[in-house]
Order: sequence, then structure tokens, then C-alpha cells
Amino acid sequence: MFSKSKSALVFSCLLLSISVLQAQVKAKNGMVVSTSSVASDVGVDILKKGGNAIDAAVATAFALAVTHPSAGNIGGGGFLVYMTNQGDVTTFDFREKAPLKATDDMYLDEDGNLIRMENHLTIKAIGVPGTVAGLYKSHQKYGKLPWADLVQPAVDLAQNGFTMNWTLYGAAQRFREMDADSFMGQYFSNSNGEVTQPGENWKQEALGKTLAAIRDKGHDGFYKGEVAKKIADYMKENGGLISKQDLAKYEAIERTPLKGTYKDYEIYSMPPPSSGGVALLEMMNLMELADFEEIEFNSTAYVHLVAEAMRRAFADRAEHLGDPDFNPDMPIDRLISKEHAKQRFAEIDMEKASVSDSSKFGQLYDGESTTHFSVMDKDGNAVSLTYTLEFGYGSRLGSNELGFIFNNEMGDFNPVPGITTSRGQIGTKPNLIQPEKRMLSSMTPTIVAKDGKPYLVIGSPGGRTIINTVFQTVLNVLEFDMEIHKAIEVMKIHHQWLPDRIMYEKDLLSPDTRKALEGMGHTLIDRSRLGVLMGIRYDEENGVLVGASDSSSGEGKASGY
Ligand code: GLY
Repeated sequence: MFSKSKSALVFSCLLLSISVLQAQVKAKNGMVVSTSSVASDVGVDILKKGGNAIDAAVATAFALAVTHPSAGNIGGGGFLVYMTNQGDVTTFDFREKAPLKATDDMYLDEDGNLIRMENHLTIKAIGVPGTVAGLYKSHQKYGKLPWADLVQPAVDLAQNGFTMNWTLYGAAQRFREMDADSFMGQYFSNSNGEVTQPGENWKQEALGKTLAAIRDKGHDGFYKGEVAKKIADYMKENGGLISKQDLAKYEAIERTPLKGTYKDYEIYSMPPPSSGGVALLEMMNLMELADFEEIEFNSTAYVHLVAEAMRRAFADRAEHLGDPDFNPDMPIDRLISKEHAKQRFAEIDMEKASVSDSSKFGQLYDGESTTHFSVMDKDGNAVSLTYTLEFGYGSRLGSNELGFIFNNEMGDFNPVPGITTSRGQIGTKPNLIQPEKRMLSSMTPTIVAKDGKPYLVIGSPGGRTIINTVFQTVLNVLEFDMEIHKAIEVMKIHHQWLPDRIMYEKDLLSPDTRKALEGMGHTLIDRSRLGVLMGIRYDEENGVLVGASDSSSGEGKASGY
């Protein structure tokens, strides 16, 4: 259906060339799709050894912490959605927490103004990491193979090394040029202290030791004992807030997933402290009310409708969402109800752009360097996992003795209580800093079910663009019947209420459509790409898994067997 439009003909040709470039991968028994080919292969090896989707996810996540250090991590946090072939669904929340010593004005100067980048690129930007706790807890409950067997591949990759690639080398050079003596300046060094060259073997001995402690002692290998002591010492020496007590108190939380429907499909996604699931379900409910017999993919009407849905879901996100443990009265059921969608849909004028009310709230910026991977095992169980350090390479801080990078996730809190600026910084209460609170996230690991079984496993990095790229990819598969690789590659837009503008992928939206949208009152800005989606769809007709990694991920791979 999506290629029928005359106006979209030129762009269909473009899509065709993209699909030739980025083929989908088919496999009968199991699949892992991640942004690192090495990590995808680690996950598939675990599946081949009889591991289930949770086992493969744990092994892939630890491997990514070695091979994809810009976002793969043990120093950050994230979310995991798990669905069994029996239709049972659960989630694990291992989002970072504010340290006990954090306060809501910790990033302000004496005059109450936000100190530039204080909440993003200083030691006080580091939240209490959650990744190890989340992986351990999900494995304790649902894993099959021994824990140590799942961490060992990452230990091996760190201790024995792997081949330096051009992506990592580019980052290594930049960090070396910025400050050769800093933690990141030395991070990619070889044994001579020089930047490891592409094609050379790159070992991370300190990281290997930290991973070995996690292998041997599980959760406590990170949150107690030597590693915890070294983290707390590093914080103390450098003016950070995280203490041994913060680490000892950290627990991942198993949470009930959010569930919505789109026509005959069930959609499961992450509840708060992620805003992703709420916004995704709200937008899918809005789409269910649209007449897609009349609205063709990538037409003016399509972009307008999708942007207006995004504007509304992001307004609701900003007003209502935060950590559920600190905001027990969030109206989540209402926001994801079909009734709310009807009211919101009725507000949309199909001839004219709405105006975002900037007297309310928005958020200036959040990091776009997150990473997502999708897993399905031979029995049809699925894991959708997104985790992050916030910025690429997080806070860019770490201890040489520990070898991993700390997040800068505190930047995802609203930094200035009560103050909203025209650029869209928010000061609303649900997401203000409080000790032990989890900061609001946009990560949207999602599983769509058909007939009660996992059908589509999907997610992406990209800060707040995550919600919208996942939304459009789900819509592309469920409504426009696209194959997974096409659904991932085709044109995407992003609107986040404030600032009031549509971001679009610049080579994929026609000049005529752009002109028509501007005529309706939209402001447009271009981006080279949006999202780095990693997805698997179950093709029930042929009984195979079909996976694709976004072509914008240079090192990504759908690995199956
Ligand atoms: N750090 C990006 C997010 O959590 O949405």
C-alpha cells in the first residue's frame, strides 16, 4: 500500500535502492540484532548453546559494554521487555537513580540559573548505575544458562581484545585530541600508550577485571566489595556524589508492562520511568482513528497527521510523567485509553498545523547515544532491550582502575524547578531531582504480539526521537505491511511539541510535500537520519525470523542461525 502514491513514486525508488543496500536476514532458530556485529554473534552463540532469549540478552548487553562503549555499558541503565511464547510479558527497570545527596537545585548558581553543562558533563551528572542489577535480576528470574557463562564472552573480549574498527578509531582520535591525559584520551590506548589503530587488536584489561568480578559475584560484584569501593573512592576524590550506600541500595525493579492494542495486534512497552510506552500507545491509538485508505505513506496528510499525534503525546508526556515511585498519581490509564485518543484526535485539523502552547513546558535536550537490541530464541521468546549512558560515551568520566565509562543520566531530570524557557526547558514537578528518584526516559523497547505470541521486537536510540522512530516503524509494519528492513529505513519525522517544529530525514521527504506542510503552518528542519532501529519480525507464513539492523549503524548486524 505504501508505494501506491504517485507523489511518493520518486521516493519509492529511493527506498528500493536503500533496501538493496540493507538486506534483511532470515533465520529459523534464533536471532540477535544489535549495533555491534561482535555482540550480535556473542548473543547467537549463547542461543546455540541452549540459552533462552534472556540469556542471549544478558550476554549481548555485556558484550556491547566492551565493543560499543559509546552506549553499551555497565556504568549506565536501561529497560528490558520480555515476552514468552506463552504470551506472558514483563519488564525490568534498571534506570539510574539520583544519589542520596542529590537536590533539586544542584545544577544552579547563586542566582538560580542553570550552570551550563553542569548536569551533563561534570561528575555530578552521574546517576547511580543500574545495568548490572537489571541484567542480573532478569537472569535470576528467567535465565537458563549459568550467569558466569553469559558474562564470560565479554570478559574474553575485554581481556583478549577484539579488532579495532573505524567507528571506534574516529572517537579515539577525537578524545585524544581533546585531552590526551584524560580518562577518555587514554581509553583506546594500546600497550604502548598510543591510540589503537583500525585492524589492531584492542584490549581493555581494567574493564576485563571489573567484568570478571561481576561474572564471579553477580549483582554484588558491582554494587558491593572491591568494585563498589573503587567507584565510591573515585567519586570522593573527584567531587562526585555517589557513595557506597547508594550502590548498596540500588535494586532493579520488575514492573508490569504497558499494554495497548492496534487493530488485531497487542503492543507491550515500557511503563514510567520511561515515557516511551505511554507516548507510543497514545500515538498508536490516535492512528487507529485515521483512515489509511485515504492517507498514503509519506504524503502531506500522512506527515501532518503523524506530527500532530506526536505533538499531543509529547505535551502529555511533559505534563504528567516521571518516576512512578515518586509520582503515584500519574494518569497513565487515561493517557493510553482509546477515549483519550478520541478527544485528542478530534483536536486535529487536517488542513492546518496546531500551535504548541509554549507557556506550558518542554525539555531542552536529552542525549541521543543510547543503544537497542532485539532477541528471539528458537521457542519464540523475545527480549527488547534499550540501555544508555545518555550522551555518546556518557559523562566521559571513569576510573582507570575500573575501565568503564560512567553515565551522565542526571541530565534527563528537569534541571531548574518551576522555570520554563521559550527554548523548551521544563521545570515541572514529576521529573525534578530527588534523592533516589529515577529520571524520566524516552527509551521505548517494544514487543508487538499477534495471536498472543511475539511478532515484532523493536527499539532504537535517539533521545526523545526514540519514541517517534519506534512509533513510525511499528506503524509501518502493522498498518503499511512493510517488511522489517523497509519499515526501518523509510522516511521518518520527529515532533516533540516543543520546540514546535518537524524534523525530517532530508533525502526522503519530497520538496512538494515540504512546501505543502509549510503552507499548513509547520516549521521544518532537516536531519540526515533519525533513529538506529534494530528489529525482528516473525514471519508466521514461513516460520522464520526476519531481522534487520538500521543501515545508519555502521557496525550493526542481524545475526541468526
Ligand atoms: N538518555 C536517553 C533516554 O533515557 O531517553
